[in-house]
Amino acid sequence: MLKKKVAVLISGGGTNLQAIIDAEVKGIIKSAEVDLVISNKEHAFGLKRAEKSGIEHYYFNDENHMLDAIKKHNIDIVVLAGFLKILSKDFIKSFGGPIINIHPSLIPSFCGKGCYGIKVHQEALKYGVKVTGATVHYVNEIPDGGEIIAQKAVYIKDDDTPETLQKRVMEEAEWVLLPQAIEDISKEG
Ligand code: GRF
Repeated sequence: MLKKKVAVLISGGGTNLQAIIDAEVKGIIKSAEVDLVISNKEHAFGLKRAEKSGIEHYYFNDENHMLDAIKKHNIDIVVLAGFLKILSKDFIKSFGGPIINIHPSLIPSFCGKGCYGIKVHQEALKYGVKVTGATVHYVNEIPDGGEIIAQKAVYIKDDDTPETLQKRVMEEAEWVLLPQAIEDISKEG
């Protein structure tokens, strides 16, 4: 069966992108391949990760350029991995295929407009929740509002800081959930 063609959109370090790349190498992702990486930040380290893995990669800060590249590569699935721009309704409609996102909390907690990155973990610790985690969901025009695909829980430790919590949620939840979700969606055909 033909592998699904995946574009990964990033804005920063690209550790989720790296988890996807590594999952392809390990055979966890068998039904898809990353054919394109796009960053809306020119110096995102994730672009270096793409370069190192020989994946075509671009810096675009204009949605139309992103869409052109996605269509030119016949992309089947768009994956937002630490991508910090809210995609427009037009982009979502024009691409027409599945767009998925990884968010570092158990949605509907600690999500929505402006709640991303380290802020999510600061909010979780401030609230005093005992369990947090990560969520993979479909993307629609509402920030973190699309149908939930998968979630994984991470227990909070008494001595957690936002930084130690973020690292554990990435390692134990995000980097596991996102590759598995890509494989599950891709093998559905
Ligand atoms: C991290 O805060 C992660 O939790 C979220 O996006 C941020 C950067 O991720 N998904 P990455 O290292 O660029 O994948």
